Amino acid sequence: MVVVSGSNSSSLAQQLADELGWTHHPLETRRFPDTEGYVRIPDGARDSVRAEPVVLVSNTFPDSGIVETLLMLHALQDLRKGDLANFRNIGPQTLPDVGKGLILAIPYFGYSRQDKRFKPGEAVSARAIADMFGHLCDGLVFLDLHAPAVLEDMPLPTAFTSAMPELAEHLGQTVQPDFILSPDKGAIDRASHVAQIIGCEFSYLEKTRIDAHTIVHQAKDLDVDGKRVAIVDDMIATGGTICRAAEALRHQGATEVHAACCHGLFTGGAIARLLRYVDGVHATGSLANARDVIPGGPALARGVKQVMVELDGN
Ligand code: R5P
Repeated sequence: MVVVSGSNSSSLAQQLADELGWTHHPLETRRFPDTEGYVRIPDGARDSVRAEPVVLVSNTFPDSGIVETLLMLHALQDLRKGDLANFRNIGPQTLPDVGKGLILAIPYFGYSRQDKRFKPGEAVSARAIADMFGHLCDGLVFLDLHAPAVLEDMPLPTAFTSAMPELAEHLGQTVQPDFILSPDKGAIDRASHVAQIIGCEFSYLEKTRIDAHTIVHQAKDLDVDGKRVAIVDDMIATGGTICRAAEALRHQGATEVHAACCHGLFTGGAIARLLRYVDGVHATGSLANARDVIPGGPALARGVKQVMVELDGN
């Protein structure tokens, strides 16, 4: 099998390829002066893209990632169907259809947080974006998706995989936490899984978001006096959630506080802000970021294998 990637996920694609012993072919991507994107499957990759199943690793963030992913899927789908017709009449114009075997693995799925219609008239953005890609591939893999329920009935093999085992291993080796905290109810499953793997205590906070930059936690007694605590979330954006949780932990006597997540968005100076409240920030490379210390390749590989089994069974 082969792994291909565009401009935003090439190091994670390489990690996936290394994990599975497959070849990674970076696709050609560039921007026209007006910022529109261009993609091409290079000469050296076209035969293998037709000869074997293909995993495209690509983020749907920022918005330019959505367009690039669409263009790459179209190019891959056309090539696998044997539609090579081109204006300059270069090479064969048609070839046999090689059938199913195109998987899209999305490390960070942009728009995942709009997973419901919170008010009448809103778009359910997570579903809208996923449906667009679902029509262009044979299987989907999502890494630590914010809330999988919205995509659980996709009409194609879909895997929801998680880097929490690797995050737990990393924290266990570097921080050796006594206590894991989920900063809100939404991260309970993820954070408690990490606590279970490490074999340490666990609790959670209840959070109310006032606006994008203001969050409030309900007061709660946490047994963290003299303890090393790691706060575990799916993503860190502004850092507000983590900073408020870290404050609560410090007030209750935590001696060391770390923040760990899968997706390090780190918007608007978030890392500098976080480092005023926590002793360390740990993330995977699902998005390129300065705190990429947890491997994401093994989790992606588990998701891809799951989809392959489903495709083989169909
Ligand atoms: C929301 O429920 C997510 O799991 C994160 O807690 C949130 O997106 C983090 O955002 P911020 O870093 O801006 O507080």
